[in-house]
Amino acid sequence: MEMEIIFFTTNKNKVKEIKELATAEAKEITIEHREYDYPELQLEEIESVARESAKYMKEKKAIKEPFFLEDSGLLIHALNGFPGPFSAFVFDKIGNEGILKLMVDKRGEERKATFKTVVAFCKSPQKAPLLFVGVAEGKIAEMMRGEGGFGYDPLFEFEGAGKTFAEMSTEEKNEVSHRSMAFRELLNYLS
Ligand code: IMP
Repeated sequence: MEMEIIFFTTNKNKVKEIKELATAEAKEITIEHREYDYPELQLEEIESVARESAKYMKEKKAIKEPFFLEDSGLLIHALNGFPGPFSAFVFDKIGNEGILKLMVDKRGEERKATFKTVVAFCKSPQKAPLLFVGVAEGKIAEMMRGEGGFGYDPLFEFEGAGKTFAEMSTEEKNEVSHRSMAFRELLNYLS
């Protein structure tokens, strides 16, 4: 079924990843990017942030067409899931260097981390947002590696790959990433 879906985000890197994935895997779905900086609530779960942001677009901005947005976060196991839903704030304040400092005495298993994306999809104004979750398991690298990607990508070494996300092409990252898993769940639902 041919379908056009709006993707609300101000992050061009997310748009690149999602558009490449849709082109490769869902030719009948067209993603229309719209740059809109909706207010992100600082809630304790990534799911709640995505759900409330989608409700805001649906109710306050009266978006009638099918749309989705997503919220992502890095959860470091030894730090009890920090920065999690506060990943954007923490990245702006201390960046990857700050995360490396927090991890300086952590070795091996203690460096495990999960990257998580929650996609919130609204089919029509009458329907509550549907959530699709994707995770990628890995660890915090000892130092930043790679020139690609964005955000925490130079620090996130994907499990078993021996490469950080920043050392992967968009295509490689899309094979395994949290965002691609969540978006594939949405595609499965739509088909
Ligand atoms: P948000 O989903 O835009 O709120 O992202 C939270 C924080 O995580 C921001 O600092 C993003 O740059 C970062 N981030 C989100 N997705 C990724 C990713 O796939 N790789 C690396 N960093 C990411």
